[in-house]
Amino acid sequence: MADARPFHWEFQPEPVAPEAFRIEGGRVLEGTVQVSGAKNAALKLLAAATLTGERCTFTNVPEIEDVRVMADTLRDLGVTVDHPAPNTYEVASGDVEWLFVPLEAAAKMRASFILLGPLLSRFGRVIISNPGGDRIGRRPVNLHVDAMRALGAEIEYRNGYYFAKAPGRLRGTTVTFPFVTVMGTENAILAAVLADGHTVIRPAAQEPEVDDLIAFLRKMGAEIERTGPDTIEIEGRKRLRGADHRVVPDRIEAGTFVVAAAVTGGRVTLEGAPCEHLAAFVETMGRVGVSVSCGVDTIEVSGADRDAYRAVDIETAPYPGLATDLQSPTCVLLTQAHGASRVHEAIFEDRLEFLGELRRMGARVDIADPHHATIHGPSPLHGAEVEIGDLRAGASMILAALTAEGTSTIHGAHHVHRGYENIARKFQELGARIERAAEPVAPAATA
Ligand code: EPZ
Repeated sequence: MADARPFHWEFQPEPVAPEAFRIEGGRVLEGTVQVSGAKNAALKLLAAATLTGERCTFTNVPEIEDVRVMADTLRDLGVTVDHPAPNTYEVASGDVEWLFVPLEAAAKMRASFILLGPLLSRFGRVIISNPGGDRIGRRPVNLHVDAMRALGAEIEYRNGYYFAKAPGRLRGTTVTFPFVTVMGTENAILAAVLADGHTVIRPAAQEPEVDDLIAFLRKMGAEIERTGPDTIEIEGRKRLRGADHRVVPDRIEAGTFVVAAAVTGGRVTLEGAPCEHLAAFVETMGRVGVSVSCGVDTIEVSGADRDAYRAVDIETAPYPGLATDLQSPTCVLLTQAHGASRVHEAIFEDRLEFLGELRRMGARVDIADPHHATIHGPSPLHGAEVEIGDLRAGASMILAALTAEGTSTIHGAHHVHRGYENIARKFQELGARIERAAEPVAPAATA
């Protein structure tokens, strides 16, 4: 069967209640904010719990829409998922009833594809929807499929779904990626920990969320370690046990609040902040002239020198490089820096699109191609009505609106709730004027 072309469907999941943010900009942010658990760790940890029939307990899980979608997707499979207290989830996947991950889950959340590896590895078969692309790029999953096939799986692609099976057990092998893929690495890990034999994965992603997944798998009894900066080796086991785990703090949320303090000229302390996971970002802040100091698990930010920020060139890269998820917040800061900043978004092909919305607020931006742009500053931003389409661009629009003089309305705020816990309340507690407002729902089309 011809392999997967990037699959763009017409299907639209039922909409999360459409929402807007109304923000009155120009206020200085001050105070303390608690960093939540990392979305991009929590989603994979919940999926990894399907590798055992024993109960797993996760704490510091962010209360965000994507986690609720993952929990519901697991429940639809027949997995027991309890949510006994805020930020705590318990998973027990004894006898999974269905090995089918529907289009709806994939349409809502690309990360549902992380279920391929564990379900294939533990149960030997799964039908899973192609998650397709989203607003930041095509985002194919060919490398995930190649890795499963290298481990001995048979996978066919039909009508938007991957039909995957592993006759007997998956077999350990060397999985070689053409370039770093975070979830590709994670799917390969989740398949190999129960495979028969030894697996080597390279180049393996080095993101801290991958290390958090490895730490949890070790607690489950998996034999897995990094044997080189971009190499992971695994000795497959026949079965794994339940374990408890606290989700690593969210470095992307932390970076977002660092920029919020910097652009408003404020003074903010981040608590529970993983400074050690933000080296490239903190270095960039230093070059711009933002005062950032790291404690054991705190970050102190001062925007006192806001009028003297310097333009800098930035380039995104796999960890430990500058995170692509922090590119858009950094771009908002660069609109306030003196000079021309060149931006190279090297990971995704559509992740500079949001700069077009920034122009509506007064930013001076030249987009040369899908990977390169130049930001000229400083530009005084003014309030505007803007639309957002993806999670990180949405959070960055909030930062721009906080910087702007006047009032802004940001449509599509529900995208932000996918990945940031209580973001409006956290900003309010720092002194921002931000309100959530239900969007008028368009009347249903009459026949
Ligand atoms: C993860 O996405 C994160 N998502 C992304 O965060 C993050 O931006 C990205 O890693 C890069 O750090 C989750 O962990 C849920 P990739 P992932 O595979 O794994 C191409 C957010 O907002 N590629 O490392 O999907 C791909 O198109 C999200 O939290 C293939 O070509 O990213 C991209 O150009 C956004 N074929 C590059 O590799 C494949 O099979 C790197 O993507 C897989 C990826």
